[in-house]
Amino acid sequence: MKKPKNFQEGIHTADFWDFYKEKLIQDSVIADFSREKISLNGDWKYGIDQYDTCLRNRWWSEHEYDGGGRALPLDYSFDEWESVEIPCCWNLQSEKLFLYEGGMVYTRKFTTPPISPLEEGGVNERVFIKFGGVSGRAAVFVNKAFMGLHEGSSTPFCVEVTDVLQPENRILVAVNNTRRADGVPMDNTDWFNYGGIYRDVELIRLPEVFIKAFHAGFKAGNIFARVSVDGAESGTAVLRIRELGIEAEFDIKNGVSVPASPELWDVDNPKLYDVEIEFGGDKISDKIGFREISVQGREILLNGRSIFLRGISAHEESVKNGKAVTEEEIRENYALAKEMNCNFMRLAHYPHSEAAARIADEVGILLWEEIPVYWAIEFHNPETYDNAENQLTELITRDINRASVVVWSVGNENPDTDSRFEFMGRLADKAREIDGTRPITAACLVDHGTLRIADRLIEKLDIIGINEYYGWYDPDFSKPPKVFENSSPEKPVIISEFGADCKAGFTQKRGTRDDMFSEEFQLDVYKKQIETLSAIEYIKGISPWIFYDFRCPRRLHYMQDYYNIKGLLSADKKYKKKAFYAMQKFYEKKEKDAL
Ligand code: GCU
Repeated sequence: MKKPKNFQEGIHTADFWDFYKEKLIQDSVIADFSREKISLNGDWKYGIDQYDTCLRNRWWSEHEYDGGGRALPLDYSFDEWESVEIPCCWNLQSEKLFLYEGGMVYTRKFTTPPISPLEEGGVNERVFIKFGGVSGRAAVFVNKAFMGLHEGSSTPFCVEVTDVLQPENRILVAVNNTRRADGVPMDNTDWFNYGGIYRDVELIRLPEVFIKAFHAGFKAGNIFARVSVDGAESGTAVLRIRELGIEAEFDIKNGVSVPASPELWDVDNPKLYDVEIEFGGDKISDKIGFREISVQGREILLNGRSIFLRGISAHEESVKNGKAVTEEEIRENYALAKEMNCNFMRLAHYPHSEAAARIADEVGILLWEEIPVYWAIEFHNPETYDNAENQLTELITRDINRASVVVWSVGNENPDTDSRFEFMGRLADKAREIDGTRPITAACLVDHGTLRIADRLIEKLDIIGINEYYGWYDPDFSKPPKVFENSSPEKPVIISEFGADCKAGFTQKRGTRDDMFSEEFQLDVYKKQIETLSAIEYIKGISPWIFYDFRCPRRLHYMQDYYNIKGLLSADKKYKKKAFYAMQKFYEKKEKDAL
């Protein structure tokens, strides 16, 4: 379009994001468990940039003088801004930021040993900066150079800074967590929209040719490994597992498979092995549990044995830290889940932190991991698909070696339309292409017209997730038995959600159960659900909604007070509601029956 004669970029350009979307950061996850990483956490400066002026007027280029050396009028002063301790969610840093949704600019300086170029006898190396998670779109700049834009608030990404690194550096990240109709998730969800750099930021120095990712697992009596190398399509790698006496050379073109009899990882015996991969001058390792998960008919098999998933759903959230949960908080969640006799958790509705799966590997909990293809996203929009597929790729690449992760979910409660079928069917195929070793699922809805499990997406899934709220959103409890009798799924079903709101500590006054939000009401729903579901042979798992109350801007009843209170625990996890004990008892019996 011809620009008018009085055109000024910074104030007249409406679609300023287009420039940044030209350089999307995708599939950038690097296997880094054993790599030396320099933390860039700590004291950053930040400024609320509600109109994205940093991106519109390119503050990041720091043009402070014009061509003639005259100082330019500036509307920012990065190093005089307020300090913030990264990682964190900005919402919990001050009252004024609690509900803030929009642009935020983060910056800090950092020093790093220079890269000694090859010609000066140095080792040719490459330097990356890794973000564990940034909630919102993130445009990254280092030393006034645009490094790329990442979409996806819950997956890690890396930017290569080799060519721009100096002894003294400035990094600047323009974050915008505004919900968007074309986003993944879109602008309507049932959880709180935190913002910020809420997971670790680290600098990683790598050899010029390095092992980017690998997948090691166990299948039919063999340990296999596949390796991808940045900078080589073929060449000899070594798989080393000392405890099993394995030292196998292989060409990365083909991967390797060696007969082995490892102690199989299981919830009651979460055995992890030190696995090393070597290629050229690069060597990495990881702690990996070997196990097999499969589906046969209507059974879910772990190491060849049929299992029942005694689960619970959970958001990634704590009252104190929002989405920036700590390792201690994750361990507390798993300890409480085990106290409820769980062996399974549904990490809803987006990828939780990498630590969540690593700790589950350690303590022995099975996990459902999910991308936020939630409700009615723009299934017709190719950019939306690209975003969803990239988040799926980043999640699977990050957690593919985690024994605890037993199922990938490509979405939740989506309307059964043609465009959704095509979109999510492609995601299911993509998940299998990246990782053929785990079943694929999605949380589907019951066909309320015919009272059947009839979602077309089921043909693309290995395990059928079903969310149903009989007893809460639909009071007619005569329906669920009909639904399950009318349905004859050929695959295992996990009831991925059922539940009822309940105000912790509120017990009904009239001695009846018709007090919604009372503990007795919630308990009554759970008892009826347990009675109905436990009688259905093809239900092989349950993950009630939800483990603990969580912040939710859609919940404005005075009893909810801006929280979704379907938790079996209070939001601070200190109070167990009556229904917690009902699940604990049911799962205790399920566990005994399985022995
Ligand atoms: C839906 C949805 C959840 C939501 C829950 C509820 O099933 O999957 O994200 O929080 O119901 O209504 O509480």
